[in-house]
Amino acid sequence: MTAFREIEDQDVEAVVELWSACGLTRPWNDPYKDISFARAGHESTILVAERGGRIIASVMAGHDGHRGMLYYVAVDPALRREGLGKAAVRAAEDWLGERGVWKINLLVRSENDAVRGFYEALGYEVSPVFCMARKIAP
Ligand SMILES: CC(C)(COP(=O)(O)OP(=O)(O)OC[C@H]1O[C@@H](n2cnc3c(N)ncnc32)[C@H](O)[C@@H]1OP(=O)(O)O)[C@@H](O)C(=O)NCCC(=O)NCCS
Repeated sequence: MTAFREIEDQDVEAVVELWSACGLTRPWNDPYKDISFARAGHESTILVAERGGRIIASVMAGHDGHRGMLYYVAVDPALRREGLGKAAVRAAEDWLGERGVWKINLLVRSENDAVRGFYEALGYEVSPVFCMARKIAP
């Protein structure tokens, strides 16, 4: 399975480009800030895979002392359906598992129903909960 490693400074531009190519960036989320924030503490990280010196896949993983979360699961559009997405999720699960996390909650934008099959193939199930959110900073 493809190896994943923690993001390094020189990967940041390529990771932002990957997220953009994968349609994961949003005007209200500064990806550079998201990367810095995820790298700032011990409870979160961004794992990347590279091939031929190019970043081809990523996943952001973190936990809040209770549950694990995944964000920015991204695979180069030209390299889909060859197991990279699964490898990214498994790498994040291993990273979280090593830190004592035994359950992962996953938020998928409702307009991204296409990836439901992907997560289901990896053993994730839709939970009978709904997500509530409030912005506490401008
Ligand atoms: C979702 C994404 C990460 C999948 O990456 P991938 O490398 O193509 O996925 P894999 O090849 O590892 O597929 C793993 C399994 O999921 C299945 N799968 C992958 N994409 C699927 C899809 N869109 N619909 C249904 N099943 C899918 C595969 O068939 C495979 O099943 P198998 O193990 O039984 O063969 C990739 O399509 C992507 O980057 N999408 C854009 C970003 C995105 O939406 N990320 C998720 C944010 S929540």
